[in-house]
Amino acid sequence: MDIQFKNVGYNYYGFKKVYPALKNINLKIEKEGEMVAILGQTGSGKSTLLQHMNALMRPSRGTINILGTELPSKKKIKVNHLRKHVGLVFQFPEYQLFEVDILKDVEFGPSNFKELKDKKTELAKEALTRVGIDESLYHESPFRISGGQMRRVAIAGILAMNPDIIVLDEPTRGLDPQGKIDIMDIFLDIHKKENKSIVMISHDMDVVSKYAKRVVVLKNGEIVFDGTKEDLFNHPNFNEFHLDFPTPMKIMNHLHETLNIPKKLVLTNEELLTYLKEVLS
Ligand SMILES: Nc1ncnc2c1ncn2[C@@H]1O[C@H](COP(=O)(O)OP(=O)(O)O)[C@@H](O)[C@H]1O
Ligand SMILES: [Mg+2]
Repeated sequence: MDIQFKNVGYNYYGFKKVYPALKNINLKIEKEGEMVAILGQTGSGKSTLLQHMNALMRPSRGTINILGTELPSKKKIKVNHLRKHVGLVFQFPEYQLFEVDILKDVEFGPSNFKELKDKKTELAKEALTRVGIDESLYHESPFRISGGQMRRVAIAGILAMNPDIIVLDEPTRGLDPQGKIDIMDIFLDIHKKENKSIVMISHDMDVVSKYAKRVVVLKNGEIVFDGTKEDLFNHPNFNEFHLDFPTPMKIMNHLHETLNIPKKLVLTNEELLTYLKEVLS
């Protein structure tokens, strides 16, 4: 079971105009064990692609099979259950908080599914623990906590449905460096403990180089790279992807140019430090 795109295209229709946002997308995301980053410039189609993964958007062309349900379908089929199996966290999810208190907000997701309804409080509390929100905040208004906490509450709303696959649209956007690490460590923990697949859009190459395993790069609605992060950052035509290098690689390149230290692919600060200790000793 997986999410599989076959020759998928998607058009937005404006006044007398068609905007082809996705073109001929072929992509397979396994249900388990994946940590995928979707990269690409603004407008390349990342958010459109992500919203197809839980049937929020339907393809204009081609087919998507989401954990056994194929879309579009000639028959009238229910897709609501897919929202539970593939948990989609929007960009700035904190804008969608609305309830009188934090606990109720997180209960909202599971309350929409009859098999989860009875357990909604238990599920909400588990999810809040998972994102590091203390019990003392359960009855606080979601609008009276910090921005980082709001984002974690919003994420808990999706985790409370216990999705099989989690897809995130720029989860670290607008957070400070520690906030980014806190958020990403939540997903890394879920990925490691439960082997769940995580798909995230990111512009932050430090997040990508530290957390992703596989990288998919979009350009003008098409996939131009799909492979490991090592192969991406080592790619001979890396410049054509219009992406930045992660900070440790920038430092590495600088040390190579100024001190002639032999170049090596280093993806995290730890890898860079270990390497420098080795070559400088
Ligand atoms: N509602 C819309 N109507 C028309 N065009 C849209 C709409 N939403 C997005 N687009 C266009 O579709 C393309 C892909 O958008 P999007 O998926 O949001 O890209 P990204 O997330 O990579 O920035 C862009 O060219 C964008 O302008
Ligand atoms: Mg986007």
